[in-house]
Amino acid sequence: MAVVVSNANAPAFEAKMTVYVFICVMIAAVGGLIFGYDIGISGGVSAMDDFLKEFFPAVWERKKHVHENNYCKYDNQFLQLFTSSLYLAALVASFVASATCSKLGRRPTMQFASIFFLIGVGLTAGAVNLVMLIIGRLFLGFGVGFGNQAVPLFLSEIAPAQLRGGLNIVFQLMVTIGILIANIVNYFTATVHPYGWRIALGGAGIPAVILLFGSLLIIETPTSLIERNKNEEGKEALRKIRGVDDINDEYESIVHACDIASQVKDPYRKLLKPASRPPFIIGMLLQLFQQFTGINAIMFYAPVLFQTVGFGSDAALLSAVITGSINVLATFVGIYLVDRTGRRFLLLQSSVHMLICQLIIGIILAKDLGVTGTLGRPQALVVVIFVCVYVMGFAWSWGPLGWLIPSETFPLETRSAGFAVAVSCNMFFTFVIAQAFLSMLCGMRSGIFFFFSGWIIVMGLFAFFFIPETKGIAIDDMRESVWKPHWFWKRYMLPEDDHHDIEKRNA
Ligand code: BGC
Repeated sequence: MAVVVSNANAPAFEAKMTVYVFICVMIAAVGGLIFGYDIGISGGVSAMDDFLKEFFPAVWERKKHVHENNYCKYDNQFLQLFTSSLYLAALVASFVASATCSKLGRRPTMQFASIFFLIGVGLTAGAVNLVMLIIGRLFLGFGVGFGNQAVPLFLSEIAPAQLRGGLNIVFQLMVTIGILIANIVNYFTATVHPYGWRIALGGAGIPAVILLFGSLLIIETPTSLIERNKNEEGKEALRKIRGVDDINDEYESIVHACDIASQVKDPYRKLLKPASRPPFIIGMLLQLFQQFTGINAIMFYAPVLFQTVGFGSDAALLSAVITGSINVLATFVGIYLVDRTGRRFLLLQSSVHMLICQLIIGIILAKDLGVTGTLGRPQALVVVIFVCVYVMGFAWSWGPLGWLIPSETFPLETRSAGFAVAVSCNMFFTFVIAQAFLSMLCGMRSGIFFFFSGWIIVMGLFAFFFIPETKGIAIDDMRESVWKPHWFWKRYMLPEDDHHDIEKRNA
């Protein structure tokens, strides 16, 4: 199928969706799958008795005592460190990965990711003490940092332009599928004694091997080759992935974009200039908001949370499988709507939607879940239902848009650096939630849900006033079409920066 890409602002390039591109996309997207698997696996493993007995005997003792405080039975800094250490490592790694991405290419960065993943899987699945376990999580984190930097960039550079938005969300879709697979694996391995948790942690090895061998098959992106002055190879690569003979226009446009980008010696410095402020501030705040919706309190600790409200181990793990499935399905709704209703509608709709869910959950827990005892069946069921409805709202909005908006609002010269900052902010706030949630649950009890509700109000207002619509706007036209007309952001669009833009347009 040959498609000519054209819209009012972007030049038309001929491209086919080739089988080769499809295979490359699938292999790269495995990176998202591993990230999701790591997000989903830790909560289930933390709720497994064999695992707790071995590494966190104090938590296990506390959990055994039925009269122990409901909200505090899992509160343990080391248990939280088991989950959170991964994100701390990923935060640091994403900056190193941004450098390897530009100096060595997207493909080797993905290969590094898979090697880190394999080491991490070996150490965590084979752990004989806490130190080994945590070091293993750090390696997995390096993998996530490298993978999450290289994969979305790779996907958008290799995709034919008209499929870029959809392909970008494929990354988030794979993340949600990874979380779901992890929840299912947790459900089954919980009954395998005493080493079910080793199988659960070792499971990440399968996609890591696929990524390692797969990344030997895939191509380096034309942009990355041309960026490193390998113009002939870049042209060849472009011809191979586009499946058409006439790739000259697209080739020239990549060369031109690389020229402009190479004039910016220090993209991080450029990020601090007024002209970069709108995408920079929005990109960072989106990560804070995405995490302070409270989503990962659920993704990491759903089984623990469901046990807290009174489900048995099995039912709690099964409920996590249900929320995981809803997360995957609702992401498809996001893929369908994002270019139809636009980004703002989804952000605003879901803010109201998630707020209502958090308030209902908070009120039920405040009224009915005492420090000891459990919720009644009907109330526990209502909690699970509203957790599902809440996850649905997140999955079609703040989840994918947290990644999509920063990838489409920076100009090329700061795109990779800006995206690296966004990835590491995401990892930082994910770390904060992972490290603090169980203690917050213990200290604030049901109040934690009102805490997240407060944040949802703030982010809804921010989206309303400060996040402009970017649906259908050509990626290099944001300054003219989005920031300049915006009531607030226009103040950072100084006339002296136009000069550069005009040159770019006329070139
Ligand atoms: C977030 C993750 C989250 C996942 C849930 C992603 O967009 O970055 O932190 O666990 O969505 O599906």
